[in-house]
Amino acid sequence: MCAVPQSAISGAERNEMLGINRQQRQFYEQRRTQRGNSPTRLWRHGRELAWRWCSVVGATATVHNLHREWLGDLQGKRVLDLGCYTGNPLSLEIAQASTSYLGLDLSEPAVQVLQEQLRARQLDHATARSGDFLSPEFDAEQFDVVYACAVMHHFKHFEYFLELVWSRLSPGGCIVSYDAMNTSWLLRLSRACYRPFQSDAAWEYPFSRKSFDCIEKYFEIRSIQGILGMGKWGLPLLLLPRGQKAMRYMHSYDLRHANRLGPALWRCMHVALHLQRRDVPLESGGALDAPRVPGLKVPT
Ligand SMILES: C[S@@+](CC[C@H](N)C(=O)[O-])C[C@H]1O[C@@H](n2cnc3c(N)ncnc32)[C@H](O)[C@@H]1O
Repeated sequence: MCAVPQSAISGAERNEMLGINRQQRQFYEQRRTQRGNSPTRLWRHGRELAWRWCSVVGATATVHNLHREWLGDLQGKRVLDLGCYTGNPLSLEIAQASTSYLGLDLSEPAVQVLQEQLRARQLDHATARSGDFLSPEFDAEQFDVVYACAVMHHFKHFEYFLELVWSRLSPGGCIVSYDAMNTSWLLRLSRACYRPFQSDAAWEYPFSRKSFDCIEKYFEIRSIQGILGMGKWGLPLLLLPRGQKAMRYMHSYDLRHANRLGPALWRCMHVALHLQRRDVPLESGGALDAPRVPGLKVPT
């Protein structure tokens, strides 16, 4: 069993996070039947629209392919699919390729769906179960890889989460992730209007620039890719005859420019990351003033 880190937050803050996750569990368990209040549904429709757009221009495929590349050969690896829900398009692939796979999610009905799929494929080395990653009762072994798709921004005290995931990874272990960001003025503005009405606000903490400082304390950023930066302006273009072509151009602009810390990344709505565990956490972050990632540019 891994030691639970003690340093980043107080006991009261840890309990607060566990309490938030009990609410979150309820939210995800009722997700299929109760879809939240009107602003939450409206926001979700907006997100779904953005996802459809992502598929049209190939951004979804880009993210999946990057994730595949970064996950690499999983033979011999113990993988945690953190916040797996019912499994996303890569979950079964990962389960099939790895030596040991654990899908973990707060929602019991969701993991049952994934567990059925694992059983149907006779993947005996793979399990899906419900539980809270933050809970002291989650006493799994160490992992070589944590796949965290749309999950890392669900932790109020982000550094505590990073410290915990760091402690559960083996030396040299990595995280492959995908998250929402809050670094563009447009998103900050729209979220500020919507957040007071949002029913899942308690566990939605899209990345700020500070989040990257914090990440760099525990992990080396091996690769980074922002999407929906320039591309987010492309949505209305769908209505025009040559709209798709223009949107593809915007997406490829993001691919070329939003692959390092800097203004082009900050304009993005989402970020995919490949992180490698540091042997020893740094004393403090500093992604913005002292880049440790080879080739990573410092924003001016
Ligand atoms: C936005 S969904 C992403 C689901 C899936 N990974 C995907 O890519 O579609 C976030 C999921 O993270 C799970 N989650 C959040 N915090 C968690 C925690 N502390 N432990 C386990 N699962 C958690 C939630 O239950 C939820 O299903």
